[in-house]
Amino acid sequence: QNDMGADLAKVLISKDEIDAKLLELAERIDRDYAGKDLLLVGVLKGAVMVMADLARTLHSQVTMDWMAVSSYGMGTKSSGVVRILKDLDTDIAGRDVLIVEDIIDSGLTLSWLLGNLGSRRPASLEVCTLLRKPDAAKVEIDVKYVGFDIPNEFVVGYGLDYAEKLRNLPFIGTLAPHVYGG
Ligand code: PRP
Ligand code: MN
Ligand code: MG
Repeated sequence: QNDMGADLAKVLISKDEIDAKLLELAERIDRDYAGKDLLLVGVLKGAVMVMADLARTLHSQVTMDWMAVSSYGMGTKSSGVVRILKDLDTDIAGRDVLIVEDIIDSGLTLSWLLGNLGSRRPASLEVCTLLRKPDAAKVEIDVKYVGFDIPNEFVVGYGLDYAEKLRNLPFIGTLAPHVYGG
């Protein structure tokens, strides 16, 4: 039960690969937002690891805020119904905002979030995601910063959960089929 490895099929992206990719993304973000007062908006709970490591990789001073939304509940499929569990503390009108996500799967969560935050009149609104699943997209979203495009498999670790478990794996792995009844 407490052996995280038992529920995994394989390591998809190692911690070293994540670190190297975050360094690349951070360099681009530092360059693109030079001289600006960037607000990072992390999407709880999945984005906590990406946010923590990306923010510490940046050289620029940034501020951070968090929004909690959920569309998955306890299952492995997106319900498409997005709920706000915690809103931002910050008024983002006139701010340069970068949404930080762990994964874009169907795109439904982010598409809804872009509409919601966009209506608050930020000066700019972009997205940084560590992972994206091109084959699972139900809506097309323009994402400026993408770490890795991955196959349409259920992935866990580095913030990503299966029924709230396995978020604390330090790498990205794929879930063993026996875990979700495959
Ligand atoms: C996951 C993930 C993204 C979203 C992506 O969050 O962290 O936020 O789903 O899926 P989509 O592109 O199909 O909408 P989840 O709703 O599981 O909440 P969590 O971050 O608390 O795990
Ligand atoms: Mn999430
Ligand atoms: Mg989840």
